[in-house]
Amino acid sequence: MIWNIDYFCNLRCKSCNAWQGQIFFPEDQIDKHIDEMKKNGIKIVSVTGGEPTLNKSVESIIKKLKEKHFITHIASNGTNPFVLRKLYPYLDGATISLDSNIPEEHNEYRGLKIFDTVVKTIIESKKRLKIVTANALVTNFNYFKVKDMVEFANDELGVPLSMCFPDQGSYYFQDFQVTDDMIKQAFSYAYENYDKHVFGNTRSYYREAVDYVNRKTVSKCKAGQTVYYTDYKGKVHPCFTHIETVLNKKPVWDKFTEDCNDCFTQCFREPSMPTPFEDAKLVSKIWWFNHVKTRNTQYFKPVQTPPTVSS
Ligand SMILES: C[S@@+](CC[C@H](N)C(=O)[O-])C[C@H]1O[C@@H](n2cnc3c(N)ncnc32)[C@H](O)[C@@H]1O
Ligand code: SF4
Ligand code: SF4
Repeated sequence: MIWNIDYFCNLRCKSCNAWQGQIFFPEDQIDKHIDEMKKNGIKIVSVTGGEPTLNKSVESIIKKLKEKHFITHIASNGTNPFVLRKLYPYLDGATISLDSNIPEEHNEYRGLKIFDTVVKTIIESKKRLKIVTANALVTNFNYFKVKDMVEFANDELGVPLSMCFPDQGSYYFQDFQVTDDMIKQAFSYAYENYDKHVFGNTRSYYREAVDYVNRKTVSKCKAGQTVYYTDYKGKVHPCFTHIETVLNKKPVWDKFTEDCNDCFTQCFREPSMPTPFEDAKLVSKIWWFNHVKTRNTQYFKPVQTPPTVSS
């Protein structure tokens, strides 16, 4: 389940209008929705937004999810380490947004000087959680430098790089579109160089992202069948696009059975890939990379022990 708990944000990203809203998931529906998810067989809940750490109920939501034995994940912009620290005991994983290895580019795109905080959040969260990735939205200033971004994430921060397929319809605040060629270039690099770096999506996803742009046949999307979207008002939909379809009108949710191929959003595509072993392999690889591999870079300097003073 992708559970959107607020339409509210502290940043001003050029591809997203969450910062224009001020709506929070109704507190009195939290318990009911958690029960509903349990009864409908949901196993993994990814809490998102807007920026989920800005909802004052986020701690109680994640704690309750863990008490009910869900696998818990958060998607965050990484600017709120104080709240994230309260969540770590109840979280299994996180993706923290990082759209460039160049601080000025990330800050310019997100509308605030946040790069250093985000980098610290990524490093801290990976020590506290089972799996963490830095998550880049593929866009016009980074599509040609996936190599630089993944090297920065892997070598400097010690986390894999996952990538968002851009929803071009949501580019409200800039006067250009991310072109198919840009998207192809980014995902092709990840597909072709998958074994040279550590990425946070399956290789099949990257291959299919390129196929999708090339209008070739791809796996059937299972949005509304094995993965769902809850909006900040408590309605369950197949995905971000089909908000006209409400699946939780009855205690046993309806299924969305339409053949739809209108987008390639990873939240709904990854769980549809016909490669369950690849998913399991990816999760163990991320865990191994986060926790076992050691490194010594500017962000991982060994602690300097002061020289002993002899009298
Ligand atoms: C909507 S945000 C919510 C979580 C959090 N506020 C964040 O930015 O990470 C989830 C992810 O969607 C990405 N995103 C933003 N605009 C997008 C768009 N137009 N198409 C696809 N992904 C987008 C963000 O970069 C982020 O990685
Ligand atoms: S992408 Fe995330 S951080 Fe950026 S405006 Fe949207 S919700 Fe906020
Ligand atoms: S292809 Fe996209 S729009 Fe269509 S059901 Fe899947 S996630 Fe929704």
